[in-house]
Amino acid sequence: MKNIVLIGFMGSGKTEVGKRLAERLSYTFVDTDRLIEEKRGESVAGIFRGEGEPRFRELEVSIIRDLLIRDLSGVTGHVISTGGGIVISSDNIRSLKKIGLLVWLKASPETIYRRVRSETHRPLLNVDDPLGEIKRLLTFREQFYSEADISVDTDGLEVDKIVDVIIDVCWKRR
Ligand code: S3P
Repeated sequence: MKNIVLIGFMGSGKTEVGKRLAERLSYTFVDTDRLIEEKRGESVAGIFRGEGEPRFRELEVSIIRDLLIRDLSGVTGHVISTGGGIVISSDNIRSLKKIGLLVWLKASPETIYRRVRSETHRPLLNVDDPLGEIKRLLTFREQFYSEADISVDTDGLEVDKIVDVIIDVCWKRR
């Protein structure tokens, strides 16, 4: 089976689902935010604070480029979890599709809000009205997320069930 690339909004479960999926498939788990942090020696929040969102988006592009080079040299068997905003560039979507099957983890604004409200590490949601911001960003980003090869509705589903659905669909599309 190809690499699997998980996309979706913050709090849609990409990291948790990705890790479990990788375990089940005996694949290696990769997270683009962590790769950026390793490359820069700084947290995502710190990069946003010090250099701003445009610089963070440039770093996302450079990480995709690194992954493409790895992939072109024959590396497969990876589950790649991505930052929620990586898709807002069509070039990024095209590149991610070269790396693997693009799977969108869909979640409603209310589900997302429930999952992220106790966390503080996401700079874009540290605002007065996080639910309103989630709705606004999600409405804008849906056009990009819907470019995925596969979408999975995660509302009300346990992590293991989501993993089952992804494995089932990816297996049929291999
Ligand atoms: C972002 C999502 C975050 C992280 C950064 C920006 C976004 O990743 O990349 O804070 O623009 O949606 P998660 O989706 O893993 O929270």
